[in-house]
Amino acid sequence: MSCPYHSDNKPSNYRAMEKDIHTDFKDDMSYGDYLNLEKILSAQHPLSDQHDEMLFIVIHQASELWLKLAGHELNEAIINIKSGDFGHAFKVISRVKQILSQLTQSWGILSTLTPVDYLKFRDALGHSSGFQSYGYRKIEFLLGNKNTELLKVHESNPSVHSELSDILHKPSLYDEALIALKAQGLPIDQSVLDRDFSQPYEANQSVLDAWLMVYRDADKYFHLYELAEKLVDIEDSFQQWRFKHMYTVQRIIGNKVGTGGSSGVEFLKKALDISFFPELFELRTHL
Ligand code: HEM
Repeated sequence: MSCPYHSDNKPSNYRAMEKDIHTDFKDDMSYGDYLNLEKILSAQHPLSDQHDEMLFIVIHQASELWLKLAGHELNEAIINIKSGDFGHAFKVISRVKQILSQLTQSWGILSTLTPVDYLKFRDALGHSSGFQSYGYRKIEFLLGNKNTELLKVHESNPSVHSELSDILHKPSLYDEALIALKAQGLPIDQSVLDRDFSQPYEANQSVLDAWLMVYRDADKYFHLYELAEKLVDIEDSFQQWRFKHMYTVQRIIGNKVGTGGSSGVEFLKKALDISFFPELFELRTHL
């Protein structure tokens, strides 16, 4: 081992280049080319001269990328469940759970933004708000929190509006899970399967009974049982994100109204009462 205090003409606290490392990217695709980094890393344009606005922009942009990935994975989970491929559905649902946990972690960074710092650039945001995040709305719709009224804020962007409207009208991840229950011979009311998927899901007794049968005979219905627990994982993680968002917002703006025009924290608190998979939580009382 070389002694750090006695030089043999080579610095010791240093890693030498290796001769096979590629260094010429004039005609070769580099890391930055592949990832389109020039575009991504030049998309931060603070509207004020406030130091902390960069944190605010980056945290939103990074969240949007994670939301995009979560949407991509949830679409796949829906396809997998539809085709009875539970193994792959479990794989992507587990990934969504980790993405949501990652998103929840980011509130820790944002809570270093003090109310005073935020107020210095808040006016520059105008009426823009995360409420208009279509990446987020897509996830809510894919999971099953359907609300036609929420399409309105996307009318100025026809391609986004049409994508969201499409997802709104299609069966959600939970609707597909209920179709799978029925396919396994569990008695689900036909009205649940034929429902208007653009409407909010209402808890149903036959669905509760079917899930209870699954939980009471988990060995027989093991993949449905596992699916149910994976869905519970997702709702758990999602609620943690909602809660940390609401709490961080309260910490930063107190009871001020939101830039998007809502009552702010009061409005965000109401989202905590929305369950994607109500019977999966209700059944626990009856076991
Ligand atoms: C200083 C930081 C933040 C504040 C003060 C804040 C505040 C708010 C408020 C008050 C609302 C309600 C709608 C409104 O009237 O504007 C809202 C909604 C929302 N925000 Fe934030 N937010 C912050 C950071 C973030 C971040 C980092 C994200 C990440 C994407 C985000 C995503 C959302 C989403 C998705 C909604 C809609 C929630 C729903 O429909 O229930 N927010 N935010």
